[in-house]
Amino acid sequence: MKDFVAKRIKKLAPSGIRQFFDLVLKTKDVVSLGVGEPDFVAPWNIREKAIYSLEQGYTSYTSNKGLLRLRLEIAYFLKKHYGLVYDAEDEILITTGVSQGLDLAVRAVVNPNDRVLIIYPCYVAYPAAVEIAGGRITGLYTKESEGFKINLKELEAVLKKNKPKAMILNYPSNPTGVSYTREELKEINLICAKHDVLVISDEIYDLISYDYKQIPFATLKGAKSRTIYLNGFSKGYAMTGFRVGFACGSKQIIAQMAKIHSFVMLCAPIISQLAAVEALTSQKEVSLMIREYKRRRDYITDELNQMGLRTILPQGAFYCFCSVKQTKLDSLEFAKKLLKEVKVAVVPGQAFGSSYKDFIRISYACVFEDLKEAISRIKKFKTKLS
Ligand SMILES: Cc1ncc(COP(=O)(O)O)c(C=O)c1O
Repeated sequence: MKDFVAKRIKKLAPSGIRQFFDLVLKTKDVVSLGVGEPDFVAPWNIREKAIYSLEQGYTSYTSNKGLLRLRLEIAYFLKKHYGLVYDAEDEILITTGVSQGLDLAVRAVVNPNDRVLIIYPCYVAYPAAVEIAGGRITGLYTKESEGFKINLKELEAVLKKNKPKAMILNYPSNPTGVSYTREELKEINLICAKHDVLVISDEIYDLISYDYKQIPFATLKGAKSRTIYLNGFSKGYAMTGFRVGFACGSKQIIAQMAKIHSFVMLCAPIISQLAAVEALTSQKEVSLMIREYKRRRDYITDELNQMGLRTILPQGAFYCFCSVKQTKLDSLEFAKKLLKEVKVAVVPGQAFGSSYKDFIRISYACVFEDLKEAISRIKKFKTKLS
């Protein structure tokens, strides 16, 4: 049969997480610390709003940019919480999750062969989004010894040498949980300004921040016109299945993203958009979930460090990126053995960047009892290894 598939799509590596989880699905009685999805269901008032909207007959398309009411509520929320000002009419676009916001942002700005800087370890969709758009990836590899934070000298050097058009930034980070203080972000912004690089800032875990208050990149001096701000409802509000997010940026860029969106998606589902309006009034429910994530974070990082699986304290999101170097197994071997011998699923570090073979990602978005059970199984596994 003739090969009809485009070369760049064929070359695209499948998600390392999915590949590993095909294996997990074949194993029974697994405690999974693998998925990057809240274990909570969306708060009841949000679900009720979705049900009621359906009962009222909201089954139509919305405007391509999304319901104006939702865009106005987002503008109000961003101003109130972060002092971040966007015009609801033409600087905010409602997307089907940050996944689509990312794809639109990259496709709107990247010409074939334009370079995009990715900070590793990173969320699996970033390299794929660049490759699908026909761009080229430049990588900056953060180190455990530097708390997986961006090394400013390296950032300066890579921007100078490779001249990427855009950079994808994510904090709090998937997979490390790393976030940045205002002072750190100021330094990063100064370097980005000097090299006039567009920052696509994925801040989907902003509400799940424990130690640092989230400082949106776009609020830094002079950064707003050089930033596409991506956020959504999946993580903070436990609304992954609703598939709703938003992108904010300059009128010019948002118009181009909206143009692609109007051809490939039309609009985000109306029920999800109405539920998202309700979500923005649910900060009390959100803070209860965050309190529970923090309890789990404190517990799991303590336990892992005591076991010798060295882990930096995540400042946000719901992941630990911990070192398995001491076991002398590479992370894929470690994850496979852990699954086979004690039925605990974690994600090998390679899924987030080829040079992270000494690390695994553990998600603590699971009920506390499961977390305790997983820790007890990992202890047993570690004892057998040594
Ligand atoms: C950093 C990051 N960005 C984006 C997404 C996708 O989010 P959404 O459900 O809004 O598409 C995820 C999901 O795991 C993520 O971890």
